[in-house]
Amino acid sequence: FTFDAERNDEFERLCTRYPIRESMIMPALWLAQEQQGWISAEVIEYIAERLDTYPAKVYELATFYTMYHLRPVGTYHICVCRTLSCYLRDKQEIVDFITDEIGIKPGQVSEDGRFSLEEVECLGHCGTAPVVQINGEFHEEMNVEKLKAVLAHLD
Ligand code: FES
Repeated sequence: FTFDAERNDEFERLCTRYPIRESMIMPALWLAQEQQGWISAEVIEYIAERLDTYPAKVYELATFYTMYHLRPVGTYHICVCRTLSCYLRDKQEIVDFITDEIGIKPGQVSEDGRFSLEEVECLGHCGTAPVVQINGEFHEEMNVEKLKAVLAHLD
C-alpha cells in the first residue's frame, strides 16, 4: 500500500499542521480508508513507517474507533448502535430486519458487496435511540419502516 498522488499531497500538507507526528495517525488512517475502503495490516505498517512510529500505536487507534474498518465493507456500511438506550428501544428489530431482508448478520458483507452490517457502541445520540449510521450519516429514532424508506433511496 502507498498513498495515491492526491492523498500523498494531502498527507504532506497535513504534516505541516501537525508538528507532533503521532497526532497525524488518525488523519492518515482516514486518508488510507478513503483510498482503499478499509484498513489492512499493510496500511498500518505503511502509516507507522511514514510517521516514524510503531505499528502498535497505529493499530491501537485503528481498533479503538469504530469509524475505521479493519476489514472490507460494503458500498453502504450500516452501523447499528447496540448500547443501552438503543438496546432498550429495540435495535434488535432493525438488525433482524437487515439480516432477513439483505441476508447479512453483523460483521458480514452482502454477496454483491453492496451492504455490510456492524453493531457498534454508543453513537452519542442516545436521546433519539435507536440510532443507525449509514456511511457516516446518522438516522435517529429508527424503526423498520424508516429504514425501508432510507434503503429505498440509496442508489
Ligand atoms: Fe445508542 Fe447512545 S446508546 S446512541
